[in-house]
Amino acid sequence: MKVLVRAPSNIALVKYMGKTDGKNGDLSTNIPENPSLSLTLSALCTFVEMSVLAGPSREHRFIAEVPDHAKGEAPLLSSAGLQKYMRHLLRCESRMAELFAPFQLTARSEFPGACTLRTSNTFPSAAGIASSASSFAGLTLAAAAVLAADSDLFLTTYRKNSEFRAALAALSREGSGSSCRSFEGPFVAWDGEGVKAVESHLPPLSDLVVVVSALEKKVGSSEAHRRVKSSPNWVGRTSRATERFQNLKIALVKNDFSALATIARADSKDMHELFATSVPPFSYLEKGSKQVLDFFKQEHPDAVVVVTLDAGPNVHLIVPQSEESHWKRVLNLRFPEFPILVDREGAGAEILEIRK
Ligand code: PMV
Repeated sequence: MKVLVRAPSNIALVKYMGKTDGKNGDLSTNIPENPSLSLTLSALCTFVEMSVLAGPSREHRFIAEVPDHAKGEAPLLSSAGLQKYMRHLLRCESRMAELFAPFQLTARSEFPGACTLRTSNTFPSAAGIASSASSFAGLTLAAAAVLAADSDLFLTTYRKNSEFRAALAALSREGSGSSCRSFEGPFVAWDGEGVKAVESHLPPLSDLVVVVSALEKKVGSSEAHRRVKSSPNWVGRTSRATERFQNLKIALVKNDFSALATIARADSKDMHELFATSVPPFSYLEKGSKQVLDFFKQEHPDAVVVVTLDAGPNVHLIVPQSEESHWKRVLNLRFPEFPILVDREGAGAEILEIRK
């Protein structure tokens, strides 16, 4: 059996930063301190292929190879990254039957044999373009497709039932927090354990990612979630983010891109100031990131655009699709040394193929 899925990355407009103790009293289930809201992308994504060799062996393996019919590059996983990935595969196996039951779906109690995973990313790994979000969303969806006893019913339920997608998103969240926002689109709210698409009347948006560096980040996001709590700015962070989250939802319904841009810029600044004031302080900003931020501050102070960075040095410029080529030209002219990745809003993770 073989399945191929595609899961997009997402870029947070109100950021998830800081974890709270879940029901089990630990931080491991990735319950956020504050609600977050993101824009789902489309071409910036991870392909996950899972093939199963039926038989008694359960020696699952990961092969660093681009799957057939997929694009991009195979990621280079660290051994800790690989362990986390394979742990999530087993989490999916042990939890899928319970997750499926309310949707009248049956999941096999275990994988029908040894699983081989091949994945590729269409963007540089670990450079602030949430590869963990897209890769864990893809893994969760691929595992669900393999475990489904009735593939056709699974496919229809996944496509039609947003509550089912939310249940898969919640499982994915335990592997990587922000991955839970990659199952819907274009705007997705994540509050506590719940994830859902948010109503919007905005015209379609584009995300231009200025790749100032494709190097691995020095401080992983788990460490960032921990360390921000040592910042004096942590006081009030939850209420600041919650207020922005509420106002952003209003801006989406009112088709108020200008309010969206102001909120998203403020929240990105807030998060990066938390990093800078943590003990010890840290920063994802590199020389190039600062140049791009300064360029917007000094040369385009009145531009109604979102300028935001996740836990990485690359700068995301989010604009209406109608302005995409204008801003691409502006950035290429001013920063010919930085590649620009151009993507558009998307609809969330999808199943491309299930072959029995
Ligand atoms: O999902 P994690 O644990 O990699 O956290 C990602 C957090 C940010 O990307 C910095 C913000 C966000 O909401 O995506």
